[in-house]
Amino acid sequence: MAELVGGLATSHVPSIGAAIDHGKTSEPYWKPLFDGIQPAREWIAEAKPDVVIVVYNDHASRFGLDVTPTFAIGVGAEFAPHDEGYGPRPVPVCRGNPEFGWHLVESLVLNDEFDLTIVNDMTVDHGCTVPLSLAFGQPSEWPCQVIPLCVNVIQYPAPTANRCFRLGQAIRRAIDSYPSDIKVAIFGTGGMSHQLQGERAGLINAPYDQSWLDRMVSDPLALTRIGHTELLREAGSEGLEIIMWLVMRGALDSNVRQVHRFYHVPASNTAYGLLVLENA
Ligand code: DHB
Ligand code: FE
Repeated sequence: MAELVGGLATSHVPSIGAAIDHGKTSEPYWKPLFDGIQPAREWIAEAKPDVVIVVYNDHASRFGLDVTPTFAIGVGAEFAPHDEGYGPRPVPVCRGNPEFGWHLVESLVLNDEFDLTIVNDMTVDHGCTVPLSLAFGQPSEWPCQVIPLCVNVIQYPAPTANRCFRLGQAIRRAIDSYPSDIKVAIFGTGGMSHQLQGERAGLINAPYDQSWLDRMVSDPLALTRIGHTELLREAGSEGLEIIMWLVMRGALDSNVRQVHRFYHVPASNTAYGLLVLENA
């Protein structure tokens, strides 16, 4: 049977990817951040998942305002990095796992009535590639297969925090019912507080972020009741991305062990947060 080895939540700020790609991780601006994520790299090197489900949002890259799936899952054999305007990032093409991807689709759609958009042909943007770089550095191949799972947080109305948590619970049921002995990890990406536009551009709310980090471990159900208005007010317009962390949290047991927690401000205009959780 497949086994969920744990969950990792991380912001996916594109400048973190650029710092890695351009060899700047030891520079004074970036070193504290890369020192702070090191235990997460050690955790995943030890856990050695065969497949990582990366929950992220597409930033008008593969999808756009012409088509905005609320939830979309990549079931193809590979996913190349998207060209977001300055050439694709120099990172490996993600290898998919079509068999596991289709099992997830079947279980989510038929057993749990989550009607995901099924995507065969898909590129992945910084929302997916930056967390992979954070976890694995700069290998010539990613050391695991990747299932990209997109959540719409760009176009109103985004799904609720509660819906994201329940999607995570349904993903867990799908993992638990997969007959092959594979090890699976799940990443929830995006956040923490950030706003990239308008009068409040640059907004960072550290006390609010810290309370999310606390409750992700001890009281995720409280987070599922938070509405979009609170998130926009407290975490900024792009801070809404944090609801994707609840997909990861929903996949884990109610009792979890915090393996690593790290918070750092700022990463470009964004508050950076990281959590590594395992079932207790
Ligand atoms: C930025 C973009 C993001 O998608 C994000 O989540 C955080 C920061 C940026 O452009 O700085
Ligand atoms: Fe983002």
